[in-house]
Amino acid sequence: MESVINHIKSNFDNYVNELMEYIRIPSISTLESHKHEMQRCAEFVSSKLRNAGMNRVEIFQTKGHPIVYGEWLGAPGKPTVLIYGHYDVQPVDPIDLWNNPPFEPVIKDGKIWARGANDDKGQAFVHFKSVEAFYKTNGTLPLNIKFVIEGEEEIGSANLSKFLDEQKELLKCDAILISDTNMFQPGVPTITYGLRGLLYMEVEVTGPNRDLHSGSFGGAVANPINELAKIISKLQDKNGKVTVPNFYKDVMKLSKEERENFRRLKHSDKNFAKDLDVKELQGEKGFSTLERLWVRPTLDCNGIFGGFTEKGAKTVLPSKATAKISMRLVPNQDPKKIARDFEKHIRALAPKSVKVDVRNLHYGYPVVAPLNGNAIKAAAIATSKAFGKKTVYTREGGSIPVVVDFMKKLNAPAVLMGLGLDSDNIHSPNEHFRLENFEKGIFSSAYFLDEFSKI
Ligand code: BES
Ligand code: ZN
Repeated sequence: MESVINHIKSNFDNYVNELMEYIRIPSISTLESHKHEMQRCAEFVSSKLRNAGMNRVEIFQTKGHPIVYGEWLGAPGKPTVLIYGHYDVQPVDPIDLWNNPPFEPVIKDGKIWARGANDDKGQAFVHFKSVEAFYKTNGTLPLNIKFVIEGEEEIGSANLSKFLDEQKELLKCDAILISDTNMFQPGVPTITYGLRGLLYMEVEVTGPNRDLHSGSFGGAVANPINELAKIISKLQDKNGKVTVPNFYKDVMKLSKEERENFRRLKHSDKNFAKDLDVKELQGEKGFSTLERLWVRPTLDCNGIFGGFTEKGAKTVLPSKATAKISMRLVPNQDPKKIARDFEKHIRALAPKSVKVDVRNLHYGYPVVAPLNGNAIKAAAIATSKAFGKKTVYTREGGSIPVVVDFMKKLNAPAVLMGLGLDSDNIHSPNEHFRLENFEKGIFSSAYFLDEFSKI
């Protein structure tokens, strides 16, 4: 192992440069206009998988963006690890708030600053480099490796889910290794065993058949923005509970052991609020912050638009208003059932004076993974060696919809070896990734492959 770790240390500057090259490809999956960049990014990923020693690399086209697959199966009798990551990134708006152009990475204060630096180009690249380091040092790998790097995680992974159904044999493995989550605190190695699910809805309210003069018509017809705002305000009650019928029906209760584990993590509400410049935190009454973030479902409006939004004033009574509303879900809530109840609820809240259209943009199931498998144990040992501290176990508020599919369809445990930090601004302007986490992440990955090859 020492020679592999030394190889990583002496090549680290090259790894950073390669990551910057990867980041420069603006692979925003949700924008139609970026289709070509997605293909270009998939080709970049393929070439890096070849460099890492994968002797079969294929780009699978889908109805959406391509999936990149790579394998090296030269260790018969040894376990197979499937490494999952995503090469797609989130949009960059609001662009004015960036300190450098989002696809021109800059190194400052020991961090790489750019869209995708962390989520998930930087985090997933860690595994490309640990595998490459083994390959270049020893001419072989300690176990069998499969890579699945997709381009649609940020838009719900619908095509990867189909791919898993069609390619069960190809993707057969003993564990799934993923770095696309956060560490509990800087320097604290973390394995995440639970993720929330997600249900993403769009609600469009239509009033009159055209925009109207707000003086000639205001007071006589419904204003869709006013009505949409009233609907949204009724989606949570005064205790922060979501009012959608049956919403909490299938929510799993927190076990004593987990509550104790959360308590031991010593989350500081004060520091959390201070970092965000808010006077106090807010959420569902009766639950601690970690509970509200990790094991309670929520509802949030992500965007709202309609009427006149340019600078200055225009008197108008708009014809339409739209809101994007997401719900984070926890085991055992079912996004499909909740989508139906949500739609009924919205229709019941809307007055007769407007029409409503309720659309489901995407959804993903929540997950909790068992903590007692060999893969998780190997990951805890590996991250602890790399960071020189005891590894902690957390759940997370974010979602990676395909984790449940992987576990169910491939019948293998998922290991979430997160390397990001809450403060890394993913999905936000000035996203970044600590170089220290990039390097120690590569060590963690290498130690994991070594540990898991011995079981
Ligand atoms: N890396 C994130 C997920 C994440 C973030 C997990 C922070 C834990 C902590 C991932 O790329 C992501 O953003 N997922 C989306 C999924 C959605 C669009 C279906 C999310 O959580 O919003
Ligand atoms: Zn993301």
